Amino acid sequence: MKKFSVKELFLSPQNCGKIEDPDGFGIYGDSECGDYVEVYLKIEDEHITDIKFLCKGCPTAIALTSLMTILAKGKHVDDAAEITDEVILDSLEGEISEEKKHCSNLGAEALYNALMNYVLKDIES
Ligand code: FES
Repeated sequence: MKKFSVKELFLSPQNCGKIEDPDGFGIYGDSECGDYVEVYLKIEDEHITDIKFLCKGCPTAIALTSLMTILAKGKHVDDAAEITDEVILDSLEGEISEEKKHCSNLGAEALYNALMNYVLKDIES
């Protein structure tokens, strides 16, 4: 499995931005006082065809949220729901410090919330 470098991801984060009229949208954190992530999904045939994120957070949070989008793109929604903070950390080259491990949580939680938003919209329509 390909491994990713925090430094490279931070210097050239992939999938930054917004998607107009997303099929799923999720947030995690508090935009007023701290770390915060928005995730936008386009989904076709239950697969994530596009994913974008906005992150207000530390460099590691930006890098690891970008990594989450790389892991999620193209996946079936059921498989994407299994992208936890541990999965993100396991996809890194080497280890990051204990105090930075929680930075992986923002993207994983925002992705989960975006998937739940998609599922609930699907049920309502
Ligand atoms: Fe809190 Fe990175 S998200 S230090």
